[in-house]
Amino acid sequence: MKSCTQLVLAAAIGTVAAAATEDCVSQCCLSMAKVPELKGKVYLPDSTAYENRLDSYWSLSAALSPWCMVQPSTAKHVSVIIKTLVAGECPFGIRGGGHGAHKLSNAVDKGVTIDFGNMNSTTWDPDTRLVSIQPGGHWQTVYDELAPYGVAVAGGRAGTVGTGGFVSGGGNSFYSASHGMACDTVANFEVVLADGSIVNANASSNSDLFEALKGTSGNLGLITRFDMYPIEYADPVSSSIIYWAYLPALIGGTILNAAIENTMATVQPPAFDVYYAVDGIYSDTTVVDTLSNVANQLGSGQPPGFRNMWFAASFKNDARPMNYAVEKFEELNAALEEVAPSSETGLNTLCMFQPITKSIAEKGVQNGGNVMGLDAYTEDGNGIMFLLTLALTGTEAHEEAALPLMAAFIDDLDAYSDSLGLKWDWKYLNYAHSSQDVIASFGEEAVAKIKAASAKYDPNGVFQKLRGSGFKIPA
Ligand SMILES: Cc1cc2nc3c(=O)[nH]c(=O)nc-3n(C[C@H](O)[C@H](O)[C@H](O)COP(=O)(O)OP(=O)(O)OC[C@H]3O[C@@H](n4cnc5c(N)ncnc54)[C@H](O)[C@@H]3O)c2cc1C
Ligand SMILES: *[C@@H]1O[C@H](CO)[C@@H](O)[C@H](O)[C@H]1NC(C)=O
Ligand SMILES: *[C@@H]1O[C@H](CO)[C@@H](O)[C@H](O)[C@H]1NC(C)=O
Repeated sequence: MKSCTQLVLAAAIGTVAAAATEDCVSQCCLSMAKVPELKGKVYLPDSTAYENRLDSYWSLSAALSPWCMVQPSTAKHVSVIIKTLVAGECPFGIRGGGHGAHKLSNAVDKGVTIDFGNMNSTTWDPDTRLVSIQPGGHWQTVYDELAPYGVAVAGGRAGTVGTGGFVSGGGNSFYSASHGMACDTVANFEVVLADGSIVNANASSNSDLFEALKGTSGNLGLITRFDMYPIEYADPVSSSIIYWAYLPALIGGTILNAAIENTMATVQPPAFDVYYAVDGIYSDTTVVDTLSNVANQLGSGQPPGFRNMWFAASFKNDARPMNYAVEKFEELNAALEEVAPSSETGLNTLCMFQPITKSIAEKGVQNGGNVMGLDAYTEDGNGIMFLLTLALTGTEAHEEAALPLMAAFIDDLDAYSDSLGLKWDWKYLNYAHSSQDVIASFGEEAVAKIKAASAKYDPNGVFQKLRGSGFKIPA
């Protein structure tokens, strides 16, 4: 008999009828539902719980309907789940906070979605001075929970963002310049491995897994908790995101934004002199406020309920690719209007530039290492990470029509940067499109570490073969 993974593949290429996978629903879902610990935690289609979870995805493009969803509450549950899925060779997807943009970011349609939504707690331990966070929560809750203790962590800038995917994929925060990526501020991951064992990965125990988890998202195990160092010092403390926003429905055109931020609450620090020197500033909304309020406000800027498509690129810190991108962005928006008119689809797009500095990469190396490979890229200077986003409320056909235009924009920008010797292959996992070969872009040295960790901690390749969501380790 073929396994469910084989049947799904065979059905996809038409060598067996789609109905052949029906038995897999019972093999994978009913087998989990029969496990006493998982009673009431497996949701089948048409149940209220299943529908409610589907409604809670940030991006409509990502909200896929699986054979069933399973919602663990403890690491033990997660262990039972992975053992059952592996025994039945069941395809699965991993959902943390549910904020991935694309189809197959965090769910599967043919298989089981492991949904961490009930594992959403935040605990501050004043003795160990660590913040323990579960992977299914959102940063707004984390900040609100921590605020009474005067503690912050390097989490998402928008409070709506999920915790698990953000940290395991790197995590670019207000604190990147001073502390590195969010994953570089993790002291310990609790992980359920492919064989169901529950282990810690930190600087002194499973340190190779600790390093390899930082930047690879769901490739090595199911993270059930991560312990973060609080942000206690901050230097340097200023950062910025420059972006052109095409918001036809909201403002009738394109606006240039500078999201400037200083974690010591300094108003107009010298780092921002060049921004304030720009002529004709339309509006200045900077305020001194708590992280919680800022995160809350930023979350409302990119609301749920849209289909979303994101693409990543990067290049050396140089104005030419930036100018080129902005020029092409106008052409892109005109072309998008042809296939997905904003008047019908609520189309909006962003063209965003964020610094990737040597200081960010160095913090990664100092704090036990990560496997994003940034230190190799920043060796000869700082870089810019580029993000192109599209959101619309139209149909899947609109999204499909937009895809080649978005992909062509990125190819063109990459080719332009390359022609000037400025291109970086590096792609930020949490911003990249599913068609982009993210992990390969981390470079040979990093990929070798990731492969070694995968061979050791997931010898049968469960997270490469059965996992249908997220990015994979290159073969
Ligand atoms: C409005 C908005 C603002 C954003 N701002 C930022 C920002 O400032 N900086 C930034 O870096 N990114 C930002 N992002 C991107 C964000 O980091 C990613 O979308 C991230 O994946 C969100 O985490 P999540 O837990 O919601 O992931 P999900 O979409 O739930 O999961 C994505 C992937 O994460 C992995 N994953 C999740 N949970 C686990 C787990 N328990 N174990 C193993 N793997 C797991 C899986 O591989 C999964 O496929 C933003 C996104 C949005 C929508
Ligand atoms: C957080 O988890 C609890 C159960 O642990 C659940 O009742 C609650 O709905 C979850 N919160 C969110 C926002 O999903
Ligand atoms: C590292 O893992 C070991 C083994 O599980 C554990 O005893 C130790 O407390 C962990 N360290 C941290 C910082 O969590």
